[in-house]
Amino acid sequence: MNKILEAKFIGPDIKLFKIDAPKIALKQKAGQFIILRIAENGERIPLTIADSDKTEGWITLIVQGIGATTKALNQLEAGDFVRDLVGPLGQASHIENFGTAVSIGGGVGTAIAYPTAKALKVAGNKVISIIGGRSKQHVILENELAATSDEVYPCTDDGSYGFHGFVTQKLQQLLDSGEKIDFVLAIGPIPMMSAVAEVTRPHGIKTVVSLNPVMVDGTGMCGGCRAYVDGKQVFVCVDGPEFDAHQVDFKILQQRNRTYGIQEQAALEAHMCNIDVVYNEELKNKKIAESI
Ligand SMILES: Cc1cc2nc3c(=O)[nH]c(=O)nc-3n(C[C@H](O)[C@H](O)[C@H](O)COP(=O)(O)OP(=O)(O)OC[C@H]3O[C@@H](n4cnc5c(N)ncnc54)[C@H](O)[C@@H]3O)c2cc1C
Ligand code: FES
Repeated sequence: MNKILEAKFIGPDIKLFKIDAPKIALKQKAGQFIILRIAENGERIPLTIADSDKTEGWITLIVQGIGATTKALNQLEAGDFVRDLVGPLGQASHIENFGTAVSIGGGVGTAIAYPTAKALKVAGNKVISIIGGRSKQHVILENELAATSDEVYPCTDDGSYGFHGFVTQKLQQLLDSGEKIDFVLAIGPIPMMSAVAEVTRPHGIKTVVSLNPVMVDGTGMCGGCRAYVDGKQVFVCVDGPEFDAHQVDFKILQQRNRTYGIQEQAALEAHMCNIDVVYNEELKNKKIAESI
């Protein structure tokens, strides 16, 4: 079991957890993720390692509560435990000094982009961060990105904060203003990543996206995270999660992610309480065991 050291909401349904995980913290590189279960009978969910401290032995996860497990996870507080964590998984981001790098995060995608944006800055790039949300409270990590970026542009769909419009419109505006962009990293909902790829394609700008297919084992064995890049089959958990945006088949990715839609909806409606019960029972047993 891994202890939660800190837990706080940083947006509506978006919670930041600092979790004790010394072995993972020691090895983690930007772009990698973990798979966790909150309870023995719970599903395994992949989450990006947003930050880590090798000396103190913790990792940070930022979780958007969208389904049964992530909503149950977001009910946990400091002092609680997650059942198990495996990682770091996946390939680390390819980091080099490209020149000017634009990091684009949509919603919780900002949390996934954050460690790579930080690493790009350390490698000497001029880093421009564009972060989008439906409205002001959905824009996350602005201060953290400001500390590691040369420019930060928050964007909101409703115009309640920052640039009024989509992250792709802000990117287009930068290109139109003559900004010379050498590299783009885009992480967020599939339609957003696909749209970014179409903005940068005519300019020939190297563009990378982090894919988010349904994952099960995270080891390349189950085939659950199959995607198509440059016409070839890849397993996102071991070959990715980052790929060349101009070669990803976003249509198939979107279709595959809808495969379990009915079951996911049923899980959210019917098993929310059940997951709580299983988790609370395990936690109770652990606390009893600790007190003996
Ligand atoms: C490499 C990777 C890194 C990720 N990092 C983060 C992160 O840092 N923060 C965050 O909030 N979310 C992240 N996600 C997405 C997160 O894993 C899903 O939101 C979560 O699994 C949903 O589980 P659920 O039971 O709450 O919802 P469900 O009801 O099971 O699913 C809701 C939606 O989440 C997606 N999903 C479901 N199961 C999985 C799965 N096993 N793997 C991937 N997507 C799934 C599906 O598109 C589905 O429509 C990441 C996904 C991947 C693949
Ligand atoms: S999650 Fe099983 S092959 Fe990738």
